[in-house]
Amino acid sequence: MAIGLSSQYYGRPNIYQFENAMTKQRVLTGITTSGSPHLGNYVGAIKPSVEASKNDQLDSFFFLADYHALIKNQDPTLVGQSTKEIAATWLALGLDTENCTFYRQSDVPEIPELTWILTCITAKGLMNRAHAYKAAVQSNESEGDDPDKAVTMGLYSYPILMAADILMFNGEKIPVGKDQIQHVEMARDIAQRFNHHFEDLFVLPEATISDDGAILNGLDGRKMSKSYNNTIPLFLTEKKLQKHINKIQTNLLEPGEAKDPETSTVFQLWQAFATSQQTEEMREKFASGIGWGQAKKELFGLINNEIGPARARYQELMDNGDYIEQELQKGALKAREYASGLLKKVRNAVGINTIT
Ligand code: TRP
Repeated sequence: MAIGLSSQYYGRPNIYQFENAMTKQRVLTGITTSGSPHLGNYVGAIKPSVEASKNDQLDSFFFLADYHALIKNQDPTLVGQSTKEIAATWLALGLDTENCTFYRQSDVPEIPELTWILTCITAKGLMNRAHAYKAAVQSNESEGDDPDKAVTMGLYSYPILMAADILMFNGEKIPVGKDQIQHVEMARDIAQRFNHHFEDLFVLPEATISDDGAILNGLDGRKMSKSYNNTIPLFLTEKKLQKHINKIQTNLLEPGEAKDPETSTVFQLWQAFATSQQTEEMREKFASGIGWGQAKKELFGLINNEIGPARARYQELMDNGDYIEQELQKGALKAREYASGLLKKVRNAVGINTIT
């Protein structure tokens, strides 16, 4: 969805850039809009970003990676709905959209434009090494299929789109899950190559993994992920939240028997939401044999206390798409103000410029 951007923005020296770049650290991260937000997304990505958005020592960029969603998903309803849900989640939880820049990737056409320029300087060999692509090839081979079966160019060159997301805003610190570290390193390689060959325009980004950005397990004890269908969605009614929590896999130990916190998804979830004191208290209860039913009841209370207050706000936002859209357009303007200035320099550096 393009927004009208008057040509006066295009390529003007960028005040926003100079004011902030000197003093504030630029944090940037995106969420792929290919499903409903769940507790794993909340703990690993959404909660830390909401906190960062309120920190005036940081210049944060948070975005909905909807072009990334197309790589794995060709269901337009799902991509659209997920974009709305993730945007509403961020807003319901209090993202400070004055202090940060909150936008949808596809509202910033400078990103795909930069993607192409970066594609032309990225070695094919670098993409051959990307985990996501390699995993797809390996799974085809183990099935005895053509190695490239169902591998699109989108999947293959996905790290270049991600590099453009990051480099377009000179993101310095990139909070990501462990599975994304390689992509941030690739963005760094690509930036280096551009800087070396053309002009020193890009900051070299670094991945950061937040201390408590633990990867949560899902109902079946594997990593909580849409692809395993084992998630606990973030905004459920109280009743449904309780039901989901009751479905978390445990073992056959009876009340009164000591339980091992380290191998328990119930305990892991507790730890993700609890203070360190509450965690110690629960550890003791595990040792003294709290029953699974009771532990789950307490876990429900803890999570519901934290999420509950935002639930109504989320519903309100979901019923008011225009407001979400307005917020995103506001963010797109801010984002493009920065991106257009930098892209102008990039185009110049590679020889795409006005004929004089
Ligand atoms: N690929 C990331 C993921 O699936 C999401 C993402 C897209 C991203 N662009 C980004 C994260 C840029 C950080 C920076 O989790």
